[in-house]
Amino acid sequence: MWLFLGIIFSVGTLIPGKLSLKLQYDGDQVLHIVPETFQQVQHLQHLCSTLLLDLWKPLQPEDIWAGEDLHIRVPAPLVQEVKDSLAQHMISYRVLIPDVHKLVDQSMPRERSNHRQVSESYVYTQYHPMEEIYQWMSQIQKNNSELVTQHYLGKTTENRTMYYLQISQPSDKTKKIIWMDCGIHAREWISPAFCQWFVKEILQNYKSDPKINRFLQNLDLYILPVLNIDGYIYSWEKDRFWRKNRAPYMNGTCYGTDLNRNFNSSWGSVGVSYNCDSEIFCGSGPESEPETRAVAQFIKRKKNDILCYLTIHSYGQYILTPYGSTTKPPSNSEELMHVAEKAAAALMEKYGTSYKVGPTSLILYNNSGSSRDWAHMIGIPFSYTFELRDNGTYGFVLPPEQIQPTCEETMLAVTTIIDYVGQKYFPGGAVMLTSSSLGLSLCLTVAFKWTVS
Ligand code: ARG
Ligand code: ZN
Repeated sequence: MWLFLGIIFSVGTLIPGKLSLKLQYDGDQVLHIVPETFQQVQHLQHLCSTLLLDLWKPLQPEDIWAGEDLHIRVPAPLVQEVKDSLAQHMISYRVLIPDVHKLVDQSMPRERSNHRQVSESYVYTQYHPMEEIYQWMSQIQKNNSELVTQHYLGKTTENRTMYYLQISQPSDKTKKIIWMDCGIHAREWISPAFCQWFVKEILQNYKSDPKINRFLQNLDLYILPVLNIDGYIYSWEKDRFWRKNRAPYMNGTCYGTDLNRNFNSSWGSVGVSYNCDSEIFCGSGPESEPETRAVAQFIKRKKNDILCYLTIHSYGQYILTPYGSTTKPPSNSEELMHVAEKAAAALMEKYGTSYKVGPTSLILYNNSGSSRDWAHMIGIPFSYTFELRDNGTYGFVLPPEQIQPTCEETMLAVTTIIDYVGQKYFPGGAVMLTSSSLGLSLCLTVAFKWTVS
């Protein structure tokens, strides 16, 4: 009986109405649990599916394992019931976030005055709604017209325009491309914040920073600041924890495809759902979604020039290599790992933040149809997913105070990768001391000594 009431209540709180978004999560809590036995796992799976709890880690009840972290958001009306049930089954838990609403509130500033939207005074240490990001894009290109251009990429489900920014230093050389997208998953707000930060940093520092200066001679940077625009807007206006796009399915009875399960890489095979209610619904077929098609078509067209595909998510602190859909390592897996480890080491030097590095299917979970796997499968040699901060303390509601440190450290990782790729494909700038050149110079020295003696 109580269980039944609970469901009604929880559905009630999720209906977007006149209720302010900020109040929607009043009293919701995020719990941290590490199940110890199989029985506990089973009970937790049952609890999560019957009460439709919002699983933050892992994403699906089937991925709950003994000994592994579980983060669940529990709607306020269910908090007591869930805690009682955990106690009954002797499952210990810790409250990670005692009041979700407070954090949601803090990450959305009340007044948004006009001056903040001008590029010079754009505040990179706050989260921005989509209309400000649109304005930011056009300002950035206006104010940096020698380097930046804004281009049409496609349309979203709800007919919004997707643009990417291209950063190219004028030159006669033929250059290669680095692609980076942010905001595939709507609620991962730190991701679009990073794409914006990245563009700002490149523009501010390309003259003075030797690393940026070096790779910009040979590489153009293509940045898609928000891939899932409809979802991002929905997460600002209706449901802060929306993840997917906003495509209607089954005559509008359910919404949203997980765009990171919708690419044409072993589509629909593992770690997905065919149920459109699910957070990991993979769509009706590969590239069924306009957002996926827009990205995939563009990348296919440019694939011979793209050396590196980066896609930015949160949370968990990972640099993930292909593949998620198979445990078979890619042909260049050693190099992929080596570069990712270099990147993680550079990141750690800034604030000590520790990242795990490795193939998705081995260190996180199986998933098919990801953009990272797809990019590598069509021949882009370097392909990585970043899962930014944090480790679960704030999860998807990373406070704005952490935007700056997160972006600063991530910047070091990303530029390490780009610089490596640049130097690999455009050697020559730097003098390389290889073993053969060393050998040759030794011979010459010996020969020289003989002739003079
Ligand atoms: N950005 C990832 C996704 O939504 C999350 C990766 C794992 N982290 C987590 N908190 N579940 O698929
Ligand atoms: Zn994600």
